[in-house]
Amino acid sequence: MSSIINDLHAMREHYDQPPLRREDLNSCPFMQFSNWLEDAVKAKIYDPNACSLATVDGLGHPVSRAVLLKALENQEFVFYSNYNSRKASHLSKNVHACLHFPWFALQRQVIVTGKVEKIETERAKTYFASRPLESRLGAWASEQSKEIDSRESLERSYLEMQERFGDDPPKPPHWGGYALVADTIEFWQGGPSRLHDRFMYQKVNGQWAIQRLNP
Ligand SMILES: Cc1cc2nc3c(=O)[nH]c(=O)nc-3n(C[C@H](O)[C@H](O)[C@H](O)COP(=O)(O)O)c2cc1C
Repeated sequence: MSSIINDLHAMREHYDQPPLRREDLNSCPFMQFSNWLEDAVKAKIYDPNACSLATVDGLGHPVSRAVLLKALENQEFVFYSNYNSRKASHLSKNVHACLHFPWFALQRQVIVTGKVEKIETERAKTYFASRPLESRLGAWASEQSKEIDSRESLERSYLEMQERFGDDPPKPPHWGGYALVADTIEFWQGGPSRLHDRFMYQKVNGQWAIQRLNP
C-alpha cells in the first residue's frame, strides 16, 4: 500500500474563505444556490454542476454516485439517467434522495434532500436531442448498471448503435430525467477552528424558513 496512507492522520486543510453570515443569504434557496453555482463556475471548479446522488435500496442500504445537474427549474433539481439502472430501481421503491454538491475548492458544500419524480418524456426528448452524438449513442449502447463481460462488448454495442441510428439516434425509451423536489437545502461554508457556517432552508407552511445549524 502507498505510504500516503500513513499520512492520512496528518492531512487537514484550514478554512480561510470569507464566512457565510445570515445577512448574506438570499431569502430564496434557489437564488442562493444559483449564486453559489455561479461562484463555482467563476472559480473554474471542474464539473461545477456535478453532484453526488444518494439513494437507498429496498433494504434501506444507501448508495451514492455522481450525476450532473442539468436544470434548476420550477424549484426542481433535474438530472438524467437510465431508467433501468440501479439508481432507477432504488427510486422506484423509495423516492427519497439526496444531492450533495462538493465545492471543496471554495470550502463549500450544498446538501439537498427531497423526493424524486420522473420528468415528462417530451422534456427529456428535448434535452436528449441537445446532447453530443457520442453521448446519445452511448445511452443506447450501455445497459447501465448491468454486468458486461468485456470492454470490447461495450465498444461493439456502441458500433452497432452507430450502424443502426447513424447521426440521429432518438431518445431511448429507457432513458429520461428525474426531478428532485427539495424539502431541505443546506449551505455550508468552512470556517476557522472548525467553526463552520451552516444554514438550512426548510419549507414550513409553504414558506422557506432558515435555521443556522451547529457545525
Ligand atoms: C462527474 C460524473 C458525472 C456523472 N453524471 C451522470 C449523469 O448525469 N447521469 C448518469 O446516469 N450517470 C452519471 N455518471 C455515472 C454515475 O456516477 C454512475 O456510475 C451511473 O449512473 C450508474 O449508477 P447506478 O448503477 O448507481 O445507477 C457520472 C459520473 C461522474 C463521475
